[in-house]
Amino acid sequence: MARLNLAIISLVFLGTVLGSRGQYEYDDDNVVAISENSTLYGLSEDFYRHACPQVYSIVRAGVEAAIKIQQRNAASLLRLFFHDCFVQGCDASLLLDDAPFFIGEKTAAANNQSARGFEFIDVIKASVEEACPLTVSCADILAIVARDAVVLSGGPNWEVALGRRDSLTASRAASDHFIPDPTYDLPQLLSSFQAMGLGAEDLVSLVGAHTMGFSRCTSFEQRIYNQSGTHHPDLNIEPGFLKQLHDRCPPHGDPNTLQPLDWESPASFDNGYYKNLVSQSAVLHSDGTLYSEAIAGFAGIRELVEKFAEDEQAFFASFARSIVRMGNLRPLIGDKGEIGHCDLLNCLLPRSPSSRNLVYYIHGIRVPANSSQRPFPNGYGEVFRNKITESYEYDSRQIGVYQGSYPTVRDGSVVSLRGTISLATSDGVRARFNVRGPYDFSQLTSIMPISGTLGGRSFLGIQNATVLFAYGRNGVVKGQAKICV
Ligand code: HEM
Repeated sequence: MARLNLAIISLVFLGTVLGSRGQYEYDDDNVVAISENSTLYGLSEDFYRHACPQVYSIVRAGVEAAIKIQQRNAASLLRLFFHDCFVQGCDASLLLDDAPFFIGEKTAAANNQSARGFEFIDVIKASVEEACPLTVSCADILAIVARDAVVLSGGPNWEVALGRRDSLTASRAASDHFIPDPTYDLPQLLSSFQAMGLGAEDLVSLVGAHTMGFSRCTSFEQRIYNQSGTHHPDLNIEPGFLKQLHDRCPPHGDPNTLQPLDWESPASFDNGYYKNLVSQSAVLHSDGTLYSEAIAGFAGIRELVEKFAEDEQAFFASFARSIVRMGNLRPLIGDKGEIGHCDLLNCLLPRSPSSRNLVYYIHGIRVPANSSQRPFPNGYGEVFRNKITESYEYDSRQIGVYQGSYPTVRDGSVVSLRGTISLATSDGVRARFNVRGPYDFSQLTSIMPISGTLGGRSFLGIQNATVLFAYGRNGVVKGQAKICV
């Protein structure tokens, strides 16, 4: 209760203090400065200093409003940043709804009926758009929101580096692959963080976010009834706490019943989570394993948990450093991606949809003979002709979705394409686009800016003219092209 009061007081206090400051300066002594690394990735705190200086205060107000509706929203909003950054980097791909050419991340195992708070991001984005149209990315909004959710819950502050752009694609499969599962043991957790270039201390400090928010019974049922197929609970749960969990989540009970991740103070960002780990009162197996498995030879991890349980400031400083590092994961910068609409790609924004059925053909991409890259084992050039299977028309903008296959393009190739793409609609409208590489197939998609004419009209003023090629895993290449004109 004392911790709860403290959280409420610090919330009011922080609101007052920060509200009286400039939009840009959080000159707390405790603010963690942006690391050199962020700058290396092309991000900086004053990215919107001229274009949208209000962004910080607009986001802060939006997070405050969300927390006023329900304190848990702070936890849910913080989690969104993690689930975004671990899948193709911090590019707001998490926010994209399914599109004709990809299945998005919202229905991935870790997010389905679990990730929440999207509606607040939409509201914040709308307010930011009103103040500074087409300027601030959704990816940057997620980064500021995460910081504000922590600060407003009594946690540490840090400078948020900005300049990310939004993804043009998303992947449910990648989310399923990269977001760690609550059944993971310590080695699995470590390798999932290592895959992101994050280390053991990043793991231990970032997962301290579980000092806020809730878990559904379904996420830890296995642990309390049938750990590793033994038909027994995990032996590393303190018996009194195990009883609490059994009471909360009886066999065949509602899998969506909620259990606080930090039973004593789920509303405040403090070091209560680590105290729980030390007293073997962790909710998720992936949490408990940081303390229990550490005994079996993972030097340093158990000590770190104990240190954070004793020294809240040490946890705060480490968390702030690690979340800045997480925020640097593969940002899209420069002319990559777009300043998006969060849930919908700009080029899919509907304007009076019509039913005219266009059929496009794409053919004629060639790899130049002098190219050093050989994506096509059969030779440098390959002509293909494939049919776009679905297409849409929104006003004057036409969108074709192409589902073909390029069985010979190797995974991860950088392809130097040069040639033309020709499009023809069923009613005879033809277009030719010039294409020039190199295009990096090591990303899930390769973006090719195209220009040309369609039906005699040039593409002047067209905002999104891109062709995307996605490849699959295991060398199987799935062609996917999107034309937004
Ligand atoms: C280390 C691996 C991690 C695993 C296995 C994991 C797993 C989970 C699970 C299973 C839940 C409950 C979801 C549900 O039942 O609906 C949860 C909740 C949560 N996670 Fe994690 N998580 C991890 C790391 C992180 C990190 C790094 C952060 C943030 C920096 C984070 C933030 C949260 C928050 C705040 C909640 C509560 C959300 C709410 O109440 O809406 N988690 N996590």
